[in-house]
Amino acid sequence: MRVISSSNYEVEIGPLTESSLPKLLQGYSAQRIIIIVDQNTHDCCLEYLITTFPELEKSEIILLPVGEENKVMEVCMQVWNAFSEYGFGRRDLVVNLGGGMVTDMGGFLASIYKRGMNFIHIPTSLLGMIDAAIGGKNGIDLHPYKNQLGTIIPPKNVYVDLSFLTTLPESEFYNGFAEMMKYALIRDKYLFEDIKGFSKESDFNRNDIIEKCIQLKVDIVDRDMHELGERKILNFGHTFGHAIEGHFLETSPISHGHAVALGICAESFVSMNRGLLSKEHFKEIESVLTRVYPFITFTDADVKSIIQLMYNDKKNEGGKIFSVLLHKIGECSYHNEISENEIGEALFYVSMLSDTLN
Ligand SMILES: NC(=O)c1ccc[n+]([C@@H]2O[C@H](COP(=O)([O-])OP(=O)(O)OC[C@H]3O[C@@H](n4cnc5c(N)ncnc54)[C@H](O)[C@@H]3O)[C@@H](O)[C@H]2O)c1
Repeated sequence: MRVISSSNYEVEIGPLTESSLPKLLQGYSAQRIIIIVDQNTHDCCLEYLITTFPELEKSEIILLPVGEENKVMEVCMQVWNAFSEYGFGRRDLVVNLGGGMVTDMGGFLASIYKRGMNFIHIPTSLLGMIDAAIGGKNGIDLHPYKNQLGTIIPPKNVYVDLSFLTTLPESEFYNGFAEMMKYALIRDKYLFEDIKGFSKESDFNRNDIIEKCIQLKVDIVDRDMHELGERKILNFGHTFGHAIEGHFLETSPISHGHAVALGICAESFVSMNRGLLSKEHFKEIESVLTRVYPFITFTDADVKSIIQLMYNDKKNEGGKIFSVLLHKIGECSYHNEISENEIGEALFYVSMLSDTLN
């Protein structure tokens, strides 16, 4: 069992049976336990949890609808009404068992109800394990804007058991890979060397790489929990990525990881155009992304809408758009204002890659 300690909680990486989970559950033997799942984690992950830990047999199960489009207030209201009908109290425990959608929303539900219940995360997707469940950000979308409503309140603990990945659909590993790329590009050139050739499920499912990503995020968040400075670097790829994801959400949704991968390409392109990132490093990044992800063509109308979404993104302020830019692989800076022109050029370049690849 590998334990990564943050100042507020611990991330335990290894089989749940060897973790501190049984002990933690004992501490709630006089309280109620609520497990939040979506349909897929209900079908693929819940039975193992309940049959392994008898303390969970009497838990109440809250089933969320699958997918980002349901990470919204309307669904939260239904769940809070259910919490109230069941008579849950603030000392009860919420167990969030799922990918980033479940841990983001479950953390939000718990951190708001009765001014804050106890909650833990058991992430079941690669993206959830290396990113969404780590760092204490909980939230929901205010369509078409991502994560507009939320809290920064850490869970009691995070339990990362890689055995849950055995049922994760292959396409979901690529989602996690985008965030792995993010960590490598902003902070760790050796990690980039390790992962740049990844292409199949068994590559992504590597304990050492997952641990490294978690450690990177925990260290950054520990120094800047409330994103006043350094934590902003974790938004690399997300200035474009969130706007692209939001733009397509209601018409032809693309996954968070796919949008972030396109965002990484666009933000790397801006970095190169500014003379910060060498062409050689840009081309290396581009070749990994184009090998792994489908590229999209953006129409003029798409570009306009994406820029508008960026202005309203919570990461931006004062009518300006900011982005993390790369200086080389493994080094970046944040709070760089970028112009509409630069955004248009980057999206044009991504579209051009899409035409070349198709
Ligand atoms: N809070 C943060 O710091 C943070 C960071 C990054 C991303 N996020 C958020 O995370 C979300 C994306 O996370 P995600 O990609 O995990 O999405 P997700 O939770 O929607 O999971 C993706 C799909 O995989 C399924 N799934 C998950 N685990 C499974 C398993 N073990 N077996 C079978 N199916 C399984 C889910 O049901 C879903 O269909 C977005 O909402 C994003 O905004 C949050």
